[in-house]
Order: sequence, then C-alpha cells, then structure tokens
Amino acid sequence: MSEFIYTLPSSNRLTHYQHFRATPATGALGAEIVGLDLRDLSTEGYAELRQALLHHKVLFIHGQALSVTDLEQVTQALGEFGREPYVTCMEEHPHVVHVVKEASEKAPFVFGGAWHTDWTFQERPPAFTLLYGHDIPRYGGDTCFANMALAYEWLSPGMQALLENLDAQHSPERAYGANANHNALLENMQIRYGQDTSNEARKHPLVIRHPETGKKILFINPAYTCGIDGLRTPEAQPLLDYLFNLAVSPAFTCRMKWRQGTLAIWDNRSTWHMPVADYHGMRREMFRTTVVGEKPSR
Ligand code: SIN
Repeated sequence: MSEFIYTLPSSNRLTHYQHFRATPATGALGAEIVGLDLRDLSTEGYAELRQALLHHKVLFIHGQALSVTDLEQVTQALGEFGREPYVTCMEEHPHVVHVVKEASEKAPFVFGGAWHTDWTFQERPPAFTLLYGHDIPRYGGDTCFANMALAYEWLSPGMQALLENLDAQHSPERAYGANANHNALLENMQIRYGQDTSNEARKHPLVIRHPETGKKILFINPAYTCGIDGLRTPEAQPLLDYLFNLAVSPAFTCRMKWRQGTLAIWDNRSTWHMPVADYHGMRREMFRTTVVGEKPSR
C-alpha cells in the first residue's frame, strides 16, 4: 500500500474519568484501565465505563479478581447476553465460553486466531464482548484490535459514497463449515463445525451507523464477510481485500497485553480483533461472554 496512512487526531484522546484512570494504548484505540473494582462499581461508575468503552473501543481493565458468576454480572450490567453459536458453553454457565489452550496441546492453533468481528453473520451480532484473563502465559498471547470507524473515516469521500450503498454478505462457512477442520486442533474446546451453515448466512449494510455514537463504521471482516450484493466475486474480492489490508495498517490498530485478572471489553460493532498465536507450549485460560447488539443499520 503506497498511501501515507495516519491516525486522525480525534481518535483516541486521553480523557479523565471520575471512577477510574485510563491510559490510551495507541493513537487509534484501546485503553488500559486501573483504579476500580468491577464487583463494587456504582451505577454511575458503570455508566462512565460505558462512555469510556464507546470512546476508546477496547478497555483492558486490570487488577480484577472475578469468578465466572462475577463475569456474568458485569456482562449483564452492559446488556443482555448474546447467543454463542458453534462453541459449547460451560455446563453451569450457559452464556460463558471457556477459551483455553493447554501447554500440552500438539498444534500452535488458537481459538479465533484470525482478524474478525464476533459473529457478524448473526441478525443481531454482539454489541460488546468480554474476555477475562484467568491464566496468562509469561509472554505472548497478546490480542490485537483494529478501529473500523477510523478506517472508514480515512477513506476518500468518493470511496465512502460507493461503499455506503452496498450490502455485504456474512457467513460462518470458512470458520465453522464443512471444511473447517482446523477446529479439530483446538483439543480442549468443544467446537461444533462441519455442518451446513447456510441457514446462518445473511447480509448487512457494508457501512453501518453506530447505534450509540452515530459514527459510521466499515462493517466487514476477513473471517465472515464473503461477498457484496450485486457484485461478482472478481469485483467484490479485490475491493474487500483492499479494505481488509487498509484496516490493519498500524495507525489503525493496537496490541494489548494481558495480566492475570485483566478483563477486556471491546465494542464489537466498531472493531476487529485477533489473538496472537505465539505462546505454544504455555497455558492460556480465559472466560468469554457477549452482550447482544442491535440489528446493524445505515
Ligand atoms: C476471541 O476471538 O474471542 C479470542 C480472543 C483472545 O483469545 O484473545
């Protein structure tokens, strides 16, 4: 890519909050949060946390000591649980996914190990995803994020106008369909794959308006977006590939480091994420929930 790609000054400003302290991770998105206990946060504190989440898009809230039940309660402070397809949730906690890779596993493969937005093939994809770091490798296992509002904002007015009229197709086929044998490498997670996924495919506007901030967002991702309505594959794919490459420019991303007891929350509508598969031979154990979002719209 030859263009000079830069972060817009308004993207991820340093902001002072009353209930916690926030340090922006990069000029694009993400903030490290300290100085609060999520088990003991007031209603006003949660309202401020939501504002911080909408502004920074990804929060890494350190120093928490959450049980799975606490995680469920924090999730419900943000909204209603989302539906978790293709992954079997914990028996006693039907909305919680146990994301674990044991040190003894044979393959370096990790759950969700490609750039994606969670479950965009759903009619109402998650608004937020919460991921609690319970056992963190000594090094490695970071999670990267991309700001899809910033990527949209950076495009020329002509490209924005073209994209705004399009609908993109989303499907779980590549990730969980008939040929998705990579899931067998996840030895300690129960992934349901290999069936016909066509009943889950659907289209959404390629550019959506964030229901809370009103900002426009590129709502496509490499894992689930498989076409554009009205365009042939040789027309759609180069356009999608251009946008996919643009979105992961360093100026639009951040890379977040976990500690034991970090709760990450991301605004799923306006971000992509990807865990880095670089901790093979070490254990990483997380607990994950989602909050259902609205039907994406222009
Ligand atoms: C996910 O995609 O939910 C997993 C992210 C991670 O393990 O860091």
